[in-house]
Amino acid sequence: MSVLQFLTTVHFGHGLRRELPKLLTQSGVRRPLFVTDKGVIRAGVFRQAIDAMPGAETLPVFDDTPVNPTEAAAAAGARLYRDEGCDGVVGIGGGAALDLAKAIAVLATHAPPLWNYCNRHAKPLPIDSAPPVVLLPTTAGTGSEVGRSAVIVFDNGVKAGVRCPDLVTAAICDPELTFGLPPSITASTGMDALAHCIETYCSPTINPPADAISLDGMQRIFASLERAVANGSDAEARFDMMMGSLEGAISFQKGMGAVHALSHPIGARGFHHGTLNAILLPHVLACNRDWLGAKWDTIRRQAGWDEGTDPAAAIAALNGRIGLPPRLRDIGVAEADLAAVAREALDDNAHKTNPRPLTESDYFQLLSAAY
Ligand SMILES: [Fe+2]
Repeated sequence: MSVLQFLTTVHFGHGLRRELPKLLTQSGVRRPLFVTDKGVIRAGVFRQAIDAMPGAETLPVFDDTPVNPTEAAAAAGARLYRDEGCDGVVGIGGGAALDLAKAIAVLATHAPPLWNYCNRHAKPLPIDSAPPVVLLPTTAGTGSEVGRSAVIVFDNGVKAGVRCPDLVTAAICDPELTFGLPPSITASTGMDALAHCIETYCSPTINPPADAISLDGMQRIFASLERAVANGSDAEARFDMMMGSLEGAISFQKGMGAVHALSHPIGARGFHHGTLNAILLPHVLACNRDWLGAKWDTIRRQAGWDEGTDPAAAIAALNGRIGLPPRLRDIGVAEADLAAVAREALDDNAHKTNPRPLTESDYFQLLSAAY
């Protein structure tokens, strides 16, 4: 059995963003750097997240978070952290902003380049003295607030993780921060969370607590994703989506599979992670079917689908109902890149825990089917 680790302190509930000042005080943080993105600011969600912090508008904000967080953005954020004399990092946003907040915290106290800390190395440099980090997700998707890594596009073009399991001081999951999330982003980020739960559950690694958590997350997401897309203010659906997202990320320490092995190298070319996972998930599930045993039926039952329903086909239909595109070509992925992506998927950590051992040519076939 692998190491079991479920450690991050999470404050979860409607309105709990108002705990932020107290948490920062408890952590000894007087001047945090806020890390967010311009869309979160434009939508008014950044202001909502800090509405219980008097004077917060005078604190420094790094809002240059790219769609996929980069090593260069992490270096720029760490410069701002030092120039402004900060003593903590608060990430407010989707997975990109939260992962970038983690990476900025690492570079705030560790020498660059960030690549030296990447999990692609057999022995990455240790991360031992980062400042306090508090994360507030504003989407229900990546679960980055409890994920053990920051996923970064490095200067060399590789998209991979910086493993930092002890970095996050606390997460605040307030579903009210997701009420204003548009249907399209609710859908794509929600499918990322569903992919985490399903890939984790299907991973052959032995970790029964993670299995149980991923099954609960799966059930919540299947029951609430369409409702959250249809009515963003559905408080119960938003709560369950945020919980499902958290559970997906708590459990994916079991390892994921081919969906993520493929979406990481495609994402490094500038495409949205959740949308990629939504497109790939039905194809990967169908490809893994004969290696899943009873899990295939368990997934069907978690969704509440009738006996005989094919979960892969049903998830493709779900994508259609929530407005997600069915094919990679629909979002502009270049057909000429598929061969390279298939090769790069073999280097991704998620490749190692796909239930069916896959070759480069298997990956190419999956990509062609999804294209
Ligand atoms: Fe993901």
